[in-house]
Amino acid sequence: MSDKRELDPNKIPRHIAIIMDGNGRWARKRKLPRVMGHKAGADSVKDIVKAAYELGISYLTLYAFSTENWKRPPLEVQALMGLLRSFFGDGVDSLVQKKIRLHCIGQLEQFSGDLQKLIKQAVSDTDKAAGSARGLTLTLALNYGGRAEIVRAARMLAEKCCLGEIASQDISEDVFAAHLYTVGQPDPDIIIRTGGESRLSNFLLWQASYAEMYVTRVMWPDFRRADLIEAIQDYQGRERRYGKTGEQVLNSR
Ligand code: FPP
Repeated sequence: MSDKRELDPNKIPRHIAIIMDGNGRWARKRKLPRVMGHKAGADSVKDIVKAAYELGISYLTLYAFSTENWKRPPLEVQALMGLLRSFFGDGVDSLVQKKIRLHCIGQLEQFSGDLQKLIKQAVSDTDKAAGSARGLTLTLALNYGGRAEIVRAARMLAEKCCLGEIASQDISEDVFAAHLYTVGQPDPDIIIRTGGESRLSNFLLWQASYAEMYVTRVMWPDFRRADLIEAIQDYQGRERRYGKTGEQVLNSR
């Protein structure tokens, strides 16, 4: 089995973001209801958080619920809310023990009051436990949409302009990024999508600008530590040019 030893310790990505797809197809293949796929997917979440922690990843962002996911059948939405409730309830202990800091991005105010309370408590508990530790930050994207995030930032800046707090010519990329949910976090180095489809699906649209994309046919409920290591190995073999030529990159080393 793949192991940390097979990874180049000097090229560990700082930030890995994952589009967890394929829960429904995983269940269908087993003639199970779709919600069983999500339940198995929640086990993958635990496994991947543990693996990311052990591999020394600084930021892991998981797309757990999109703004579009409300359109799913009510029973499926209800089951997903149940899984989130148990993650923020029982699942937080293991984060606290490992000093993993939890962060949530998205329009959280649209969740039920009790779930919002659980989220707030979990974030505060992990924050207290992590203290000044600089280990893993786990970000869950919940009721998240990349376009909505950009519109939200634009509105905040427009209000500041109206109030005279900022001049329009002072709005730079950095200033704009400081009004996104992800303020203070580095952009993802790699975005992994499970389930085989090559789409961003409204995930981290701004932050994905220079991310390496890695698509695997493995369905999310089957995605485990060895698959994460395979994705990181693939990333380590890539040349990130940020618009420069390959020669320029070589000369700047
Ligand atoms: C996409 O699979 C997955 C989701 C919409 C939800 C992801 C949720 C989990 C992994 C479980 C709960 C999360 C946490 C953080 C505890 P899909 O249903 O679209 O799959 P399909 O494309 O095969 O139908």
